[in-house]
Amino acid sequence: MSIVNLLDLQVFDDDRGSLVALESLKNIPFDIKRVYYIFDTLAGGSRGYHAHKDLQQIAVCLSGSCRFILDDGKTKESVVLDSPRQGLHIGSMVWREMHDFSNDCVLLVLASEHYSEDDYIRNYSDFIGAVSSER
Ligand code: TYD
Repeated sequence: MSIVNLLDLQVFDDDRGSLVALESLKNIPFDIKRVYYIFDTLAGGSRGYHAHKDLQQIAVCLSGSCRFILDDGKTKESVVLDSPRQGLHIGSMVWREMHDFSNDCVLLVLASEHYSEDDYIRNYSDFIGAVSSER
């Protein structure tokens, strides 16, 4: 099964433009506790390089594009986000990296928990050790 879980968001398009609503436990499959966004990204820069023990996230590229690499310790997949009409659902215990940011990229992230450094796994060998011991 693919670890890339893209949600097609309902878009209210009309002759004035387009609107998407994001609602906890409706089109977003968790209670949204935190929202952050990444912008002014430098060409050639990369971010992420971590997994979360419990946190789930949805990433929506509001403008421009970027590429995610997702890795559950068994499968590694790459996906380009370039549309505000789709959300990428990233479950817990998935290593993520973000690459190839366009200059105009604005990446919105919805998170199921408040910020907690304790929930991060920032070392790839620790991540592989943790997912292997779960199996
Ligand atoms: P970082 O985890 O390095 O971002 P990325 O996952 O995109 O590589 O976060 C950058 C900084 O922002 C770091 O000092 C932690 C801080 N931060 C918060 O204070 N709250 C948050 O919700 C997030 C995601 C990061």
